Amino acid sequence: MSGHGTPTPMTARNGNALRGEARVPGDKSISHRSLILGALSVGETRVRGLLDGEDVLATGAAMRAFGADVSQDGDEWVVHGVGVGGFAEPEDVIDCGNAGTGVRLIMGAMATTGISATFTGDASLRSRPMGRVTDPLALFGAASYGRSGGRLPLTMVGAATPLPVEYELPMPSAQVKSAVLLAGLNAPGETRVIEPEATRDHTERMLRGFGAELSVEDSKDGRVITLTGYPELKPQSIDVPRDPSSAAFPVCAALIVEGSDVLVPNIGLNPTRAGLFYTLQDMGADLTFENQREEGGEPVADLRAKFSPDMKGIDVPPERAASMIDEYPILSVVAAHAEGRTYMAGVKELRVKESDRIDAMAVGLRANGVEVDEGEDWWAVEGRGAGGVPGGAAVAARLDHRIAMSFLCLGLASQKPVTVDDASPIATSFPIFESLMSGLGGQLDRSNS
Ligand code: S3P
Repeated sequence: MSGHGTPTPMTARNGNALRGEARVPGDKSISHRSLILGALSVGETRVRGLLDGEDVLATGAAMRAFGADVSQDGDEWVVHGVGVGGFAEPEDVIDCGNAGTGVRLIMGAMATTGISATFTGDASLRSRPMGRVTDPLALFGAASYGRSGGRLPLTMVGAATPLPVEYELPMPSAQVKSAVLLAGLNAPGETRVIEPEATRDHTERMLRGFGAELSVEDSKDGRVITLTGYPELKPQSIDVPRDPSSAAFPVCAALIVEGSDVLVPNIGLNPTRAGLFYTLQDMGADLTFENQREEGGEPVADLRAKFSPDMKGIDVPPERAASMIDEYPILSVVAAHAEGRTYMAGVKELRVKESDRIDAMAVGLRANGVEVDEGEDWWAVEGRGAGGVPGGAAVAARLDHRIAMSFLCLGLASQKPVTVDDASPIATSFPIFESLMSGLGGQLDRSNS
């Protein structure tokens, strides 16, 4: 799974309006957690709507390597778990592919069991910082031996007699929060995470759903999450909602391609994930939430996005960053089609995603005729107005699915085609992207120009 095989160049050109219904795949964050929590329960967990992207499949393979039984039964995934503390030592290296969420959550889940495991991934994942999880996991008593900068490949030696931990997150990261909470499952007493800025709360919601004792309080220091160790997690039946981060691509493409009208049904609007949609509305997008309802305790709606020629650049509120952190690349593409400057601050986490996303987008947007300024933790896009982006250049996807999809959406609306050097990473999170966008009328082809 390390690497994505032969590069697949892809070109997007402006032709048709995008019209119709876009059924995007299951939520990536919830899919990873369904498999991991299923593996930590005793009995059979069934999951419908699981994202069958490479990232999640790598987590499924890892859960098998730790002793759980993970299989497919028609449209459902079935996990027979080994229980909290029940992981067996894997016989081989665990390859998490491109998935930061997979590797960091799994490290957390094994850190308080008396086994060792060695983790690796593709070139993107091997370049990403792991100290952010190995530091708090060391407080439980887990040791780790990685490459310089704590990078993969890395061997973790779990704590045989773990201690509970209180940890204040030094950066807004749901992955780090989740790693600490999953480690806390197999530690005595109470493990506490203090989160100064709220990040996606799927782990907390799902741990409760699986029967763990977990409380969340708002304090002057932020959200305080307290988990009681050694719960018996009960297997669940899970319906994975569709991914708002995947919905972002057909929604944003519809806003910038002339004549478009796209319905994206059944999207979770959990407030810790939905920041992009409110930002687009603040810019003047014709984006509406239809049929608003609650499903499985989460707010859900059908999103309708129509071509919006009058969008204006805005200052995106930095306090919204965590709730839209994966959406800045595609937001910058919309910003290029708005009037005026869009300023995005408080986003230094973008520099340590699957790629340095500020740099990747800035380089590619500039090549396609859009002016971008940047600093360490901010960037700004000078909008060229609807239909005003020249395009015409090839860009590097840098093994980053969201960079590849963002530039393909740019090409659907720009004056000249845009080519991405390698679209294969899209399969990590949105394997049906090409067919879905083509089905709406988008002109994508597997070529260099
Ligand atoms: C995720 C958390 C975020 C996000 C990633 C998924 C998760 O990462 O970027 O795509 O499922 O917990 P960080 O925790 O690094 O912010």
